[in-house]
Amino acid sequence: MKQEIQQIQAEAQADLATAQNEKDIEAVAVRYLGRKGALTGFLRNIAKLPPEERAAAGKQANAAKQSLETAVRKAREELERRAPEKTAAIDISLPGRPAIPGHTHPISQIMQEICSILERMGFSVAEGPEVETDYYNFEALNVPKYHPARDMQDTFYISENIVLRTQTSPMQIRAMENQTPPVAVIAPGKVFRCDSDLTHTPMFHQVEGLLVDENISFADLKGTLTAFVHAMFDRETALRFRPSFFPFTEPSAEVDILCVMCRGKGCRVCGQSGWLEILGSGMVHPNVFRSVGYDTQRFTGFAFGMGVERIAMLKYGIDDIRKFFNNDMRFLGQF
Ligand code: PHE
Repeated sequence: MKQEIQQIQAEAQADLATAQNEKDIEAVAVRYLGRKGALTGFLRNIAKLPPEERAAAGKQANAAKQSLETAVRKAREELERRAPEKTAAIDISLPGRPAIPGHTHPISQIMQEICSILERMGFSVAEGPEVETDYYNFEALNVPKYHPARDMQDTFYISENIVLRTQTSPMQIRAMENQTPPVAVIAPGKVFRCDSDLTHTPMFHQVEGLLVDENISFADLKGTLTAFVHAMFDRETALRFRPSFFPFTEPSAEVDILCVMCRGKGCRVCGQSGWLEILGSGMVHPNVFRSVGYDTQRFTGFAFGMGVERIAMLKYGIDDIRKFFNNDMRFLGQF
């Protein structure tokens, strides 16, 4: 009986020594330790032995079982150490899953392009809060409470005196409060209006521009914006200054560019007019200078504000502004 156990044990050790992989080890474990395994069978038969032999036989068989279990575990550990990839449940010969490289959002790309053109012309970038006070968004910009011009902008109110900025123009005030002329700043950022359709989203982006110094005239405004449009689109893109109204500029003008699709012939994009509106602008209103304590006799200036999505739509020929914000990778991947 003792010999029998010793023999089973020796055979098991020999089999284990030749095991090449997980499958071989598993086979050894099943052959000796499994439900129908040799050692298991031996243990089951102990009951049939004469009573005086049972205790010793049981003890010995159990010791053999334990040492075999340990040997199997060690063999598995050894295999894992030698070649971890062979035992893991992956096929290392399969091609890898490629990581999709990300890139800058098209709106951010256009915003960076706008800023870099204007920075090269001498403007420096200023950024400010998206949650703004009524004072900066309206009052200081010559839009008093109950002024009908407040109707132009569908304002999101946080509380009576706090709003989500409807324009980047409050940055004109913040910039002027922080410095004395000459001032040449641009302010890119998010703005918010309660409006949503094919050409409007509740959040969109603007880039504001402000230049203040002695002897700044409307000619400087025209020259600056013409140079900007030529750099942003091309030198064949004509501009048109159309009289308009903004409470914080006087005179005010909206700027149209020759339709980038039809070059003035008239098409669906420009509504057959041949022109596309891209920004609002004008000479800074003296009341705006007064609210920051600038000498209105000595200084003049111009300001402009452009919609980034609008320029991106024109540059890329996109007809639905909402595409920029749906995060559809098939769309975004094209830029
Ligand atoms: N803030 C104006 C708008 O959002 C644009 C503008 C900026 C007009 C600066 C004049 C001067 O419509």
